Amino acid sequence: MWISKARCCLITLLSLNSANLFVVALPHKIHQLTSENRADAIKSAFKHAWDGYSKYAFGHDELMPISNNFSDSRNGWGATIFDALDTMIIMGLDDEYNTALKHVAQVDWTVTDTPSKTFETCIRYLGGLMSAYDLRPNLLLIRKAVELVNQVILPAFNTTSGIPSSFVDVPSQLPIISDTIVLAEFALQLEFVRLSQITGDPTYEIMANSIIEKISQVDTPIPGLYSIFWDPRTFEPSRTYITISGGGDSFYEYLLKTHILMDGENTQDILQLQMWEDAVVSMYYSLRSVSQQGDVFLSEDLDGFQRLKTGELVCFMPGNLLLGAKYVNSLEMATFAQELLDSCYKTWKKSPTGLSPEAWGWIDDLHYNTSNILYTPDQSKLFDQLGFIPNDLRYMLRPGYGVGNFRVD
Ligand SMILES: *[C@@H]1O[C@H](CO)[C@@H](O)[C@H](O)[C@H]1NC(C)=O
Ligand SMILES: *[C@@H]1O[C@H](CO)[C@@H](O)[C@H](O)[C@H]1NC(C)=O
Ligand SMILES: *[C@@H]1O[C@H](CO)[C@@H](O)[C@H](O)[C@H]1NC(C)=O
Repeated sequence: MWISKARCCLITLLSLNSANLFVVALPHKIHQLTSENRADAIKSAFKHAWDGYSKYAFGHDELMPISNNFSDSRNGWGATIFDALDTMIIMGLDDEYNTALKHVAQVDWTVTDTPSKTFETCIRYLGGLMSAYDLRPNLLLIRKAVELVNQVILPAFNTTSGIPSSFVDVPSQLPIISDTIVLAEFALQLEFVRLSQITGDPTYEIMANSIIEKISQVDTPIPGLYSIFWDPRTFEPSRTYITISGGGDSFYEYLLKTHILMDGENTQDILQLQMWEDAVVSMYYSLRSVSQQGDVFLSEDLDGFQRLKTGELVCFMPGNLLLGAKYVNSLEMATFAQELLDSCYKTWKKSPTGLSPEAWGWIDDLHYNTSNILYTPDQSKLFDQLGFIPNDLRYMLRPGYGVGNFRVD
């Protein structure tokens, strides 16, 4: 999920900025390989995955790599193909890319058995098409993007409040009204702004940016940070749960990137940079937590209580902070990013499998005796050994730490 949304604009954004300001050190083991070796290893891994997908699951959303069956979790339009378009261009896999383009040309967005999830359709299908377009312009990609937006994404906005629904019933092109919508799902503006820039049609940009403007007018107990649960009918947060993890992540990520993408276009881009800066200041003062072992993590806020919980998904945030630190030229922000990235690195390094857990907690001085999470003696022992307390041992192919590394040469 994460690669696709980060991808389109990181590529664009990195090419906008070429000064060498903040370079984050990579762990030493990786340093022993030359970059050529590393690039080759990554390319072979991609080829292996693509060949398996092509052989057993081509045209479906994903390969099930143990059974060699397939599944269609994202409407069956071939999500893997759209995810892979820009990667193939970057890797110079032209034969594979041309095969993929044939699939893109014949996808019929109106044919699907399941509702479209507005946010996922936007980041994966629309983001995939546009990042490929930015790397290698081809009108087919934009034609399919506009078709997708008109047939599947814009119907989400056809609600009484104008706030897009989480899901759309594709055959009837009607929004599916729900009781809750999640903050991160409001983040459609990066793809929509780019689509407006490419097509010259401002409609998309206006629609997506207006949601962000409405959010800026809503009161929140911690400036710049919003609860992840919203009632789409009243457009108010339905309870206070602030997290930078799933449900919150893209909201914060997109504010900065949209600002950089729009730079100087109109007042919207200034508003979004201000919202991002407010959020970062509050992350620092309200969520930053130093564990008893000196590691720095971003905690959560649940109904006014600080909750010492974070996870791999949150490890994208250092990369976003570094991008912003370079953009606004702030060494403090870069330092904040670096301390967060270092503790993310430790969760990978110290786990016996070498893979970070999905979620973990920790103990800090402030909450030592008052924490709403009470740790068992076994958990406290784990904390002494590892510096964190794993509480969800799954590894869900998370690239957060990889995305968190931001490098400008
Ligand atoms: C493969 O996946 C399809 C679609 O999910 C399912 O209907 C089918 O039963 C699966 N086949 C096997 C052999 O598991
Ligand atoms: C919005 O939905 C209504 C039905 O609720 C429908 O009649 C109308 O055509 C839709 N508008 C657009 C622009 O899709
Ligand atoms: C926690 O509480 C215990 C017992 O009330 C007390 O002895 C201890 O000093 C406290 N620890 C901290 C870090 O406040």
